[in-house]
This record gives sequence, structure tokens and C-alpha cells, in this order.
Amino acid sequence: MTVSLDDPLEGYWTLERSADLAHWEAIKTKRTREGAWAYQHAGREFAPSLYYRLVNANTVERVLKESIPKLYGNLLPEHFTVREQHVLVSSSSGGWAGDGGVIERVVTVQEPVPEWPELFDRNRDQKATLGRVLFYDKRLSANNSLSCASCHQQKFAFADNRPLSRGIHGQETARNSMPLANLIFTPTDDRFKKGAFFWDLREATLRETVLRPIENPVEMGMPLDKLPNKLSGEPYYASLFEGAFGDPEVTIDRIGEGLEAFLKVMVSYRSKFDRAFKIGMRHFTEEERLGRALFVGKAGCAQCHTLPFFDASFPTNNGLDLISDKDPGLAGHTEKAFDNGFFKTPTLRNIELTAPYMHDGRFESLKEVVDFYNEGIQPHDQLDAILRASDGTTRNWTDISRSERQAVRLDLSMEEREALVAFMKTLTDRPLINDDRLSDPFKQP
Ligand code: HEC
Ligand code: HEC
Repeated sequence: MTVSLDDPLEGYWTLERSADLAHWEAIKTKRTREGAWAYQHAGREFAPSLYYRLVNANTVERVLKESIPKLYGNLLPEHFTVREQHVLVSSSSGGWAGDGGVIERVVTVQEPVPEWPELFDRNRDQKATLGRVLFYDKRLSANNSLSCASCHQQKFAFADNRPLSRGIHGQETARNSMPLANLIFTPTDDRFKKGAFFWDLREATLRETVLRPIENPVEMGMPLDKLPNKLSGEPYYASLFEGAFGDPEVTIDRIGEGLEAFLKVMVSYRSKFDRAFKIGMRHFTEEERLGRALFVGKAGCAQCHTLPFFDASFPTNNGLDLISDKDPGLAGHTEKAFDNGFFKTPTLRNIELTAPYMHDGRFESLKEVVDFYNEGIQPHDQLDAILRASDGTTRNWTDISRSERQAVRLDLSMEEREALVAFMKTLTDRPLINDDRLSDPFKQP
């Protein structure tokens, strides 16, 4: 018997068997590869009538463990299962699909879309489920005009497409919105004393970070102490808080915990690049391969945007400006001159989707970013050593006058610059932006 199935999301599927359509026995769990699931089921079965079905068996945990065990092994996110999709498969001869039998008919059973509480009770990770609702709920802003998702949109890998975002009463934020996937992997221990979140790393923990935009007068403008009361008035929150915490009480801590749990299940690991961990680079074009070689080699990008997350756990100064007078970055809160112009070294995962670029959204395209690294790096006092060109002497960088200092010039050809862009596009994770579990629960499918 041969079973095959198309699933571009490369999910896990369990083949199950039943004689009565009520009791199901699992036979085999397999993952789709390159969009397809094919399985040859050997062995004789002498039941008069057997039914088979495929059940979607994805969990982030399973996928991560399988894909990149060495890299993700210790960092598994909490359990978070998909709503199961059942695909009923019946055999060619009206039941019996013994040796050599071929399944001809695949019937997709559309699950009825349940009402609110039901839908959510069925998810295993109740805190992430609560967090998902909070993330998309405009009631978290003072005048019910925006939610987290207004500035962190799934289709833009949870960033947005404006240089600066629009907050409450049409105000502009001071910086460009940031993508949110893979924050679970951000090291937040004391090794990196400078904090971990926001462009200037002013927050140390994700739990604290998620509450800041709510009370920020430019973002959601909602006094935190008033929020629990406001949310308690919504009937659906009672069951969500009860599911997550055992009783329906709404508190700020619980809101933070829910939002944090939801952000922790936003994991990006299904890009073309990720597949290379498993199958090598044979699915890369010549241009993408050249781009990868430049990225980790001559162009030096991977020294800061380190694999596999393409970020760094420390801030750097990449020489966007000669003087950081508009936005001092890290120095804005540490008040130390040597932190001037330092910013979070952002992830490049899904970078294709998060234009415009840099903390102020100054570059519209990846081509412009590469041109900047190629010929536009400014000899800032605090420019990262990787990006300084030696003047052939042993003089200290800061002893050389600004006009005399040389920043690195990469001298890449047009072809090489385009290849870098092509490589960055292999980091796009389409399954992430189409993942139902992360989508707006207020929008009924
Ligand atoms: C009005 C737009 C806006 C809204 C609404 C908003 N954010 Fe943000 N978010 C931003 C901007 C802009 C930044 C970068 C701010 C900075 O660095 O100063 C950011 C940064 C973040 C970060 C830091 C990411 C990192 O890599 O360090 C997290 C986490 C975050 N937001 C979560 C949330 C959550 C959760 C909500 C809802 C409670 C929310 N945001 C609502 C615009 C917004
Ligand atoms: C010295 C460390 C360093 C090196 C080397 C480096 N970057 Fe960056 N990169 C940064 C920092 C820091 C930022 C954020 C700067 C800011 O917005 O103020 C950044 C931002 C970016 C962004 C925009 C990210 C966003 O979310 O807006 C892209 C794209 C990028 N770098 C690509 C590259 C490429 C391609 C190379 C190699 C040619 C490279 N980087 C080399 C540190 C580095």
C-alpha cells in the first residue's frame, strides 16, 4: 500500500488505521520532505475492512529536535500543538487495502470552526493561547485602536513595513519596529550585562519587555494598573485565564506571562536556508551559494550576524553615521560614551519581509543595505573593529582624526552584491507567516 500527500509546510503526519472509524492505531509518523509525504506500507492485514487516515502531528518541539538537534537541543520552546487536521483516506476496494493496494481517494475533512472557548481549550499550551489572544486584542490600547499586531504583523515576520510605526493617536514611534521570531533563543543571563531587548537593549527580560509597549504613551498608551479591570469585562478572558492559570483572575503578571509564552512559540526554522542543515546546499542556486560564501567569508557579515540566528548576543556599531546625534543607541540609557552608536545586532532571518531597514528604517531595500556596507560605512569613534581599515601604522583608531580614518570598503562587484541579497532571501520562512497557530484569532478562518 502506498500513501502520498502534499504538504508544502513540511509537517509531520501520522498514518493511522482503524476497523471501525472509532478506534485508531498509529502506524507510522513521517515528515513531508520537499512538500511530499510518501510511504510504502508493507505487511499483510486480514481484516475485512480497514480505514486509514493521516493526522497532522506537528509540534515545534518535534520539528526542532529533528531538524537541528545540535543547535536547538537545549533550547526547546514550550509545547505548542497545532489544531489537528484529519485527512481521511479510504482504500481502493471499499475498505481493504492489503498488499499492493493503492489508495485512490483522499478525502479532506474540514473541521467545523468551533466557537471561542472550545477552540482554545483544545490547545495544549494554554498560556501561549492566552498570549495569542492578548497579542491581537486592540483592547490592550487605551482607545481600542491598536494591538501588538498593528506594529508586529505576521505577514512582515512580526515587524511592520514603515520606517517608524504608527502608535496611538497617530503618533510615530522613535524607532523601526522589530521582528519577533526566535526571541526564545535570546540569551538573557548575566553574561551580557547590557540587556537583551529593544534596539538599545534597555530591557533585560522578555517578561518585562512585553509590558512596555502597553504603557508607552506613544505606542498603546494604556496605564498598566487599569488593564486587568478592563480585560476582566470581556467574557472570553475568563476561560482563557482559567485555562492558563487555574482561575479567571486577570493580573498584570499573568498578562505578561501570557504574552511572553506566545512570543516564545514564534520560532522561525523553516526557511530554505534551514533545509540546508538537513540536505546540504543542493537546492541553492549558484547565486545563493556565492552569496553564502561571501556572507560567511570575504564580506564579513557573519562575524556579527552569526549563524544560525543571524544575530549577535552583543550590540555593535556598524558605522551608519559619523556621529550618532539623532539616536545614541545604547548610550541613551547607559550614559557611557563608549556605548555611543551601539545598537542591537539584529537577526537577518526573514529580512526580505521586514523592510525598511535599520533602527530608523533609513534603507528601503536590501540592495541599499549592501551598498552601504560596500562603500558607505562611516568612521564613527566607536565603529566596530571589524569594520575599521588599518592605515598601515599602529596608531589607535581614536587618535586618528575623523577625516583621516578609513572604514572598510568591501569593493564587491555588482554580481557579488546581488548574490548577498539573494542569500539573505533564503532566510525567509514562509511557513512562519502562514502558520495558523500564530495568526489573528479574532479573524475567523
Ligand atoms: C505602535 C507600534 C508598536 C506596538 C503597538 C507594539 N510594538 Fe513592539 N516594538 C515596536 C517598536 C518601534 C520596537 C522597537 C522599540 C525600540 O527599540 O525602542 C518594538 C520592539 C518590541 C520588542 C523587542 C524585540 C527585540 O528583538 O528586542 C518586543 C518583544 C515587542 N516589541 C513586543 C511587543 C508586544 C508584546 C506588543 C503588545 C503588547 C507590542 N510590541 C506592541 C513597535 C510596537
Ligand atoms: C560589526 C558588526 C556588523 C557587521 C560586520 C555587519 N552588520 Fe549588519 N548590522 C549590524 C548592526 C549593529 C545593525 C543594526 C544597526 C542599526 O540599525 O543601528 C545591522 C543591521 C543590518 C541589517 C538591517 C536589519 C534590520 O532589521 O533592519 C541588514 C540587512 C544587515 N545588517 C546586513 C548585513 C550584511 C549583508 C553584512 C555584511 C556585508 C553585515 N550586515 C555586516 C552589525 C553588523
